[in-house]
Amino acid sequence: MGFFASVNGEIAPAEEARVSVLDNGFAFGDSVYETLRTYSGRPFRLDRHLRRLRASAARLGIEVSLRDAELRRRLSDLLARAANPESYVRVIVTRGQGDISYNFDRVKGPTVVMVVKPFQAYPDHLYRDGVDVILSQVRRNHPQSLDPAIKSSNLLNNILAVREAQVRGATEALLLNHAGDVAEGASTNVFVVRAGALVTPPLDAGILAGITREVVLELGRGLGLPVREQRLPVADLVGADEAFLTSSTRELAPVRTVDGRAIGGGKPGPITIRLLSAFREEAARPTA
Ligand code: PDD
Repeated sequence: MGFFASVNGEIAPAEEARVSVLDNGFAFGDSVYETLRTYSGRPFRLDRHLRRLRASAARLGIEVSLRDAELRRRLSDLLARAANPESYVRVIVTRGQGDISYNFDRVKGPTVVMVVKPFQAYPDHLYRDGVDVILSQVRRNHPQSLDPAIKSSNLLNNILAVREAQVRGATEALLLNHAGDVAEGASTNVFVVRAGALVTPPLDAGILAGITREVVLELGRGLGLPVREQRLPVADLVGADEAFLTSSTRELAPVRTVDGRAIGGGKPGPITIRLLSAFREEAARPTA
């Protein structure tokens, strides 16, 4: 089992891999990233992750000169070297190496880093019992400030919220947006089930366009559920029949409590359970 990194195509054990102190990623948080995982050794929805990575980079004017085929080849070499049963994968693209200034014309880049390590799922009991979440005091970045649609490695907004969750003994922090509606978790999207319908905040609530979110919306429609992307006031979360979080590493995690108040029956609801099993079937398909 291995924890390995590729820095501009050079593979090394992760703890030995190095990026310059002059790298804009280090000096300014001037970088974008993707997190994904493998199923049966294959990265799930890699095409979607690469597309989102390029979209994030484009928003910041970071040029990703490498073609998808080259990124795929590097990742496949790295996964082969690590030889994990399942891997967590992080792909990071920084603007490159500069001189610690805003003179971007002096930056040589991009720096393309990939890191893989053995994938560690949430423990089973969190899927059986549900997770406890808090509503953070920290608001999600305003889309006109640092748009949450950009998956930037500048994660301080998220870190402030996660620290609050950790202090309060919760698994995840949910952030409200500028309008006071529920936006998303620090590293997850959020769904509720109300009167049999699947509801999640729309992209213009100021959230990341989660890839798991997209798959769950497709699966929900496929199961014939009414599916709505609409604003989610706090009252509609707290009063929901079911709630769950989604992310590439967490799949669908049922929510047991919000700020200590039980959601639904305080245990995973039937629609959450059905969607989680549909998601796992989808992820296990060899062509996924
Ligand atoms: N987080 N919202 C935020 C703020 C996220 O950081 C993530 C992903 C998601 C879910 O997106 P997806 O389904 O595409 O993974 C939503 C990853 C797992 C991370 O930060 O490592």
